[in-house]
Amino acid sequence: MINWDELEKIVNNCGRCELCRGRHNVVLGTGNRNSKIMFVGEGPGYHEDMRGEPFVGPAGQLLDKMLASIGLNRQEVYIANVVKCRPPGNRDPLPEERETCLNYLRIQYLLINPKIIVCLGRIAAISLITPNFSITRDRGKWFYKKGVQFTATYHPSALLRDESKKRLAWEDLKAIKEKLNELENN
Ligand code: URA
Repeated sequence: MINWDELEKIVNNCGRCELCRGRHNVVLGTGNRNSKIMFVGEGPGYHEDMRGEPFVGPAGQLLDKMLASIGLNRQEVYIANVVKCRPPGNRDPLPEERETCLNYLRIQYLLINPKIIVCLGRIAAISLITPNFSITRDRGKWFYKKGVQFTATYHPSALLRDESKKRLAWEDLKAIKEKLNELENN
């Protein structure tokens, strides 16, 4: 199994898909590498590409508030994305780009060994939970795979576009916190 330094070196030099061409920075992930909970988004946007850090733009500010609402912060959890390089014009990452880059995310969660992985939005959920995942239908459900509890909620960008979804996201967040408490006490 490779370690974090080796993973960083490989990902920083990655040229395995077209997304490497337009990037300013690779966005591997941030936070606590011993966290019991991981949050996974779709891919870097403009701000993230410029800074080399996930969720630092407007969606990230909302994610910080979502974390704070359940007593967490970005230093104590781990935050990453399905793809590590910004898709041009913020388009959805293509299936082959996701598949290639998922190898890195899988190494990340093998190294971190979280009990819970929260998918933020559809792209993370179809990549990590099941290809036919529907956010409207399946958000808030739990999927147990290889020792990890997976769930999904709305992407913060979706909440910025449609505030009426915030109530359901809040329900999901409360359930996530409860599950975390339950698993931490086991
Ligand atoms: N949206 C994402 O999915 N990830 C980020 O890092 C920023 C915005």
